[in-house]
Parts: sequence; structure tokens; C-alpha cells
Amino acid sequence: MKYLIQCCFIGLLSFSAQKATAQNMANGKKIYETRCLVCHQADGGGVPNMNAPLDGASNVVGNDIARLVKIIRNGYNERVALDGYYYSNAMTANPDLKDADIADVLSYIRNSWTNKASKITLAQVQKVKKK
Ligand code: HEC
Repeated sequence: MKYLIQCCFIGLLSFSAQKATAQNMANGKKIYETRCLVCHQADGGGVPNMNAPLDGASNVVGNDIARLVKIIRNGYNERVALDGYYYSNAMTANPDLKDADIADVLSYIRNSWTNKASKITLAQVQKVKKK
């Protein structure tokens, strides 16, 4: 009986963790479709010479999470080579996006198309100071 209770408890815990992940991905997708898709496209491929691709981009699946958070919050117009290419458009800032939404949209782009990288948590976003 004791084991049965333990087992159910663990089962419930992992179920709620999975559910949270699915919710985060669904929210991330919604944000992507309303704010990012116009430039980065539905397939994450971007627009050659204009808007950087997110699918297969080494920075997107990389470990510099603070850089990614700042790009979403503040926009991006650095004109540095990204995986060897330059992009002429300027990414708009998202000052009104909540930290939880930034975590979700980053989790979404890091785990869509061919990308497979760690999810981003609210705590990771909160650690990055606003400018
Ligand atoms: C107005 C078009 C536009 C919109 C909207 C936009 N981006 Fe961008 N994004 C760009 C451009 C252009 C670059 C590259 C800028 C540069 O090279 O200076 C970029 C760069 C990036 C990068 C860095 C890629 C790398 O390889 O380092 C990430 C991550 C990113 N965008 C994510 C997003 C997300 C997520 C959203 C939605 C919240 C979004 N972008 C909305 C145009 C846009």
C-alpha cells in the first residue's frame, strides 16, 4: 500500500511537469506566431540576407542564454556575422513581453524544426538584468 501511494505520487508529479512543458511550448508557439514569424518565417528559416534563420542557428541552440534573453527584450541590430552570414533587417524590441513569455518563446525556438536544446526557465530569464 505504501509503495502504491508513493508510486502514484511520483506519477502525478511527472505528469504535471510534462503538462507544464506542453503548456510552455503552446504559449511559446502563440508568441512566435504573433511576434516573430513575420520575419523568421513559419519554418524558422528566416529570409536570406535579411532576417536571420533560427532553425539550425548555433546561437539559438547554444549556451549563452543571457544573450538570447537580451535579444528578445531589446531587439537586435548588431550586424555581426551569424554562422557566417549578415542580415540587413533590424529586429524589433519586445519591452512588453513578460519574463515567463520570454522563457516560453525561447523554449519554443530551441525545440522547433530541427532544433533540440534545453528548455529555458523563468528563473533563467529573471537572472538577466533589464537594461
Ligand atoms: C522585424 C523582423 C524581426 C522580428 C519581428 C523578429 N526578429 Fe529576430 N532577428 C531579426 C534579424 C534581422 C536578426 C539579425 C540581426 C542582426 O544580424 O543584426 C534577428 C536575430 C534574432 C536572433 C539571433 C540569432 C542568432 O543566430 O544569433 C534570435 C534568437 C531571434 N532573432 C529571435 C526572435 C524571436 C524569438 C522573435 C519574436 C519574439 C523575433 N526574433 C522577432 C529580425 C526579426
